[in-house]
Amino acid sequence: MQAKDFVQRGQTALVQNLFAEAKLAFEQALHVDSNCIEAHYALVKLRFPGESYYDVLSRMHAALRPRTYIEIGVAGGASMLRALPGTKCIGVDPAPNPDTKLAHVKLFPLRSDEFFATQDLTALFDGLPVDMGLIDGMHLFENTLQDFINLERSCAPGSTLLIHDCLPFNELTASRERKTLFWTGDVWRIFPVLARFRPDLSLTVVGCIPSGLGIVRKLDPASDILARQHQEAVDFGFTLDFPVSQNLATHGVNVISNDWAEVSRAL
Ligand SMILES: C[S@@+](CC[C@H](N)C(=O)[O-])C[C@H]1O[C@@H](n2cnc3c(N)ncnc32)[C@H](O)[C@@H]1O
Repeated sequence: MQAKDFVQRGQTALVQNLFAEAKLAFEQALHVDSNCIEAHYALVKLRFPGESYYDVLSRMHAALRPRTYIEIGVAGGASMLRALPGTKCIGVDPAPNPDTKLAHVKLFPLRSDEFFATQDLTALFDGLPVDMGLIDGMHLFENTLQDFINLERSCAPGSTLLIHDCLPFNELTASRERKTLFWTGDVWRIFPVLARFRPDLSLTVVGCIPSGLGIVRKLDPASDILARQHQEAVDFGFTLDFPVSQNLATHGVNVISNDWAEVSRAL
């Protein structure tokens, strides 16, 4: 049987509410074709019941009403479109989808390192701090860490930074070299690293489709710990094995289910 046949079998089982059978069929599809995107999405939906990360993002915008919002990694704008009118929005992406229509966004077609090296974010926000930010650019740990360090400098103690892709699906889709369409890279390493080097931060990860959304609060724009201990932080991150990503709760991170009452307590 081909992967598509197993996917079909899984979808039929889902319609009949036969979840264990569906899971098995989707896993068989991946066994035949480790890059089967339909099987990846079906399995992450079974793993994380509830709303997608986009809907969680919408709830966050509605609850926090940030004055300012920045996204690192805009792509086609699906996440950026969740910002509400009245929020000043900045997007940074070296290759945004050219068809993306984001009239409300000041878009910088740059890599994030180029953006932070050449732009004054606080000035772009007319003197306001970053109230809310989403890191979803290059899916490598060291890039994510650098994006975090750069963004925190423009935050205020009440700001919220979000990090996508912190709960990877499996080792293949979490590898540093992209081998699959569904790919989270090793972004997940940032959470145990922050827990170790920045115990002053509040760290929560929501188990939502497709690969978890991290929430960082109690930010400190004056902190220079990560910049000073940058090499140690990176080295420590690379000592972590993939199983740590499936067990962040034992590494100082509050991992919660996708229940808005619980999520809102983390904000
Ligand atoms: C997964 S997509 C973002 C998806 C978007 N946030 C959403 O949820 O709809 C990742 C994006 O990051 C961009 N990217 C890759 N490297 C980057 C970098 N160094 N700095 C900023 N963005 C980067 C890619 O061009 C791509 O569009």
